[in-house]
Amino acid sequence: MVDVLLGLQWGDEGKGKVVDFFAPRYDVIARFQGGPNAGHTLYVNGDKVVLHQIPSGIFHDGIINLIGNGVVLDPVTLKKECEKVAGFGVDVKKNLFISERTNVIVPTHRALDKASELSKGDDKIGSTLKGIGPAYMDKTGRNAIRVGDLLRKDFKEQYQKLRTKHIQMLGVYNFEEDIAAWEQEFFEAVDFLKTLNIVNGEYFINDLLKEGKKVLAEGAQGSMLDVDFGTFPFVTSSNTISAGVCTGLGIAPQHIGEVIGVTKAYCTRVGGGPFPTELFDATGEELRKIGHEFGATTGRPRRCGWIDLVALNYACILNGVTQIVMTKSDVLDSFTSLKVCTGYLVDGKETAKMPYQLNGVEVQPVYQEFKGWDRAVAACNAIEELPIAFQEYLKFITDYLKVEVRYISNGPGRDQIIYQAEQVTV
Ligand code: GDP
Ligand code: IMO
Ligand code: MG
Repeated sequence: MVDVLLGLQWGDEGKGKVVDFFAPRYDVIARFQGGPNAGHTLYVNGDKVVLHQIPSGIFHDGIINLIGNGVVLDPVTLKKECEKVAGFGVDVKKNLFISERTNVIVPTHRALDKASELSKGDDKIGSTLKGIGPAYMDKTGRNAIRVGDLLRKDFKEQYQKLRTKHIQMLGVYNFEEDIAAWEQEFFEAVDFLKTLNIVNGEYFINDLLKEGKKVLAEGAQGSMLDVDFGTFPFVTSSNTISAGVCTGLGIAPQHIGEVIGVTKAYCTRVGGGPFPTELFDATGEELRKIGHEFGATTGRPRRCGWIDLVALNYACILNGVTQIVMTKSDVLDSFTSLKVCTGYLVDGKETAKMPYQLNGVEVQPVYQEFKGWDRAVAACNAIEELPIAFQEYLKFITDYLKVEVRYISNGPGRDQIIYQAEQVTV
């Protein structure tokens, strides 16, 4: 079976930490979409590590980590990341595998990302500028270089062809970038990548499934950043929802088992685009400060607001979420009152459904207010110990979404997670 773990909001829900926690229950952890725009934070023996491309199971001995065909891979970031995890004693040659169909991010993709963002002016997406959009455009445009191509004799010619095309496109944007230094780094990193385990990802994973191995697919970004269903055009360029697992790994839908959705106890967004429950006041500032809400990849301050059940319900429907992990519950400990968004007022009419378009639409969140709690969730070690007010907050959310919140994360550490053993189904 393949279980899926993914973000239900606008990313940064704490997926890395939760995958690291679940990893011992699986044989394989696989990334199926996204690229180095992701920043997944984990703590290894007290040391903070941020992973961008390597799956978050890498620190567990004997677990296979697969970068699937649906990912866009930057060899330079990958090399740096491999060096970083090697510092923790991880042998990537043993437990990291890369699909030969994975698309490669080249230096000009990053330049094109910059050029495109600049050309948008005030409407910019707030991209991480890692070349994600241009790399996926080359995939659907049928121009991309894939990891398997790096091993071919004519790779350099293929690269030059793509480079020429990109330089012409940069000319249209009237954008110049000196990519010579990036290219040197790129080719060194390509040589390194060629020494790793490059496999036919779809046979690789299906053979493992046939042997009865358990796979956890690790999502990047979040459901509201999905290219089809997110707050378009302020989205990333891949399908972040559970449907992306099949195309991003080459597995059939009947293999999908549990879909584990991760949400913060509140909500954040980094980059541009609509965010109905965003707080622009001292409360928002407080959430940012207590939650250390700064991007793991870019360091940008994250926009903060209350939990949005309209968006969460939408994400539960799209993904077929079977269980929820709520993270950063401890961040709310010091608030005397909390709000939960239960509907949107769109042009004066209340709805609990996500409109197809949020840009240029006047959306006012409808809130239900809750009392804060008197005892720190951070200090709890069992469900029964959770403050009554927190349990009420949780019950309201569970009843609204009709999906159980099975795990409460109450701190960034690997073991700071509360659950009832009898509810464990993965
Ligand atoms: P991801 O992209 O979904 O993996 O999330 P990020 O790593 O970008 O951001 C989540 C941040 O919250 C990281 O700094 C984590 O260390 C931290 N974190 C995760 N879970 C918790 C939690 O339950 N409580 C607190 N206080 N921090 C958490
Ligand atoms: P993880 O996996 C939060 C956001 C960017 C921008 C938009 C498009 O750590 O949750 P892109 O680089 O794809 O062109 O950016 O998406 N974004 C993320 N926000 N977490 C992420 O990943 C993100 N990856 C992209 O800020 O608004
Ligand atoms: Mg992140």
